[in-house]
Amino acid sequence: MVYLTVPLAPTHDKAAFSCGQDMLDRYLHKQAGQDMKRRLSVVFVLSEETKSGRVKGYYTLSNDNIPYDQVPLNIQKKMPSSYSSLPTTLLGRLAVDRNFQGQGLGEQLLLDALKRSYDISTSEIGSIAVVVDPLDKTAVAFYAQYGFIQLPDRGRMFLPMKTIKQLF
Ligand SMILES: CC(C)(COP(=O)(O)OP(=O)(O)OC[C@H]1O[C@@H](n2cnc3c(N)ncnc32)[C@H](O)[C@@H]1OP(=O)(O)O)[C@@H](O)C(=O)NCCC(=O)NCCS
Repeated sequence: MVYLTVPLAPTHDKAAFSCGQDMLDRYLHKQAGQDMKRRLSVVFVLSEETKSGRVKGYYTLSNDNIPYDQVPLNIQKKMPSSYSSLPTTLLGRLAVDRNFQGQGLGEQLLLDALKRSYDISTSEIGSIAVVVDPLDKTAVAFYAQYGFIQLPDRGRMFLPMKTIKQLF
């Protein structure tokens, strides 16, 4: 499978990355490498050259789960009630450098993350949906365009693997 992104490596130039959200910039500059070493998340980057060069955008993926009773009812009904929580994939962060925003890269990164998550869920690690924690209202609007629905829990948003399958 060909993806646009590769896991962050020490050869990537991340110092100049700036997306307009300090938290997401600081994460890439200071924490991303450590998180990967600790297996907390995998940071996937899109850069000028595959294994080096300036980072244009990034996203993170981790295993996660949501309590059974927070899953939308139509999906809950299809799941065995013996599960107290259901496995999901967390798209923890997604950002595009300011110099490259508005050119479709955000959409390409999101689709790359969804495809990767879907592929893994079919053959490697079970997951019923991709979940995001939008930082603000504009991020909610961004994810809503792609069919993410809001969960009753802390504003999280949820896109079932079944819907993701139909995107490709
Ligand atoms: C949100 C973000 C990732 C979008 O990246 P981008 O490369 O500018 O987006 P694209 O050019 O691919 O645009 C994709 C679609 O999203 C829309 N969009 C772009 N930025 C948006 C935003 N901030 N809010 C809502 N919609 C947005 C575009 O209008 C476009 O829709 P269209 O095709 O109907 O015109 C980028 O602005 C960013 O990094 N922002 C700061 C970090 C952030 O808020 N991340 C959100 C996740 S926490």
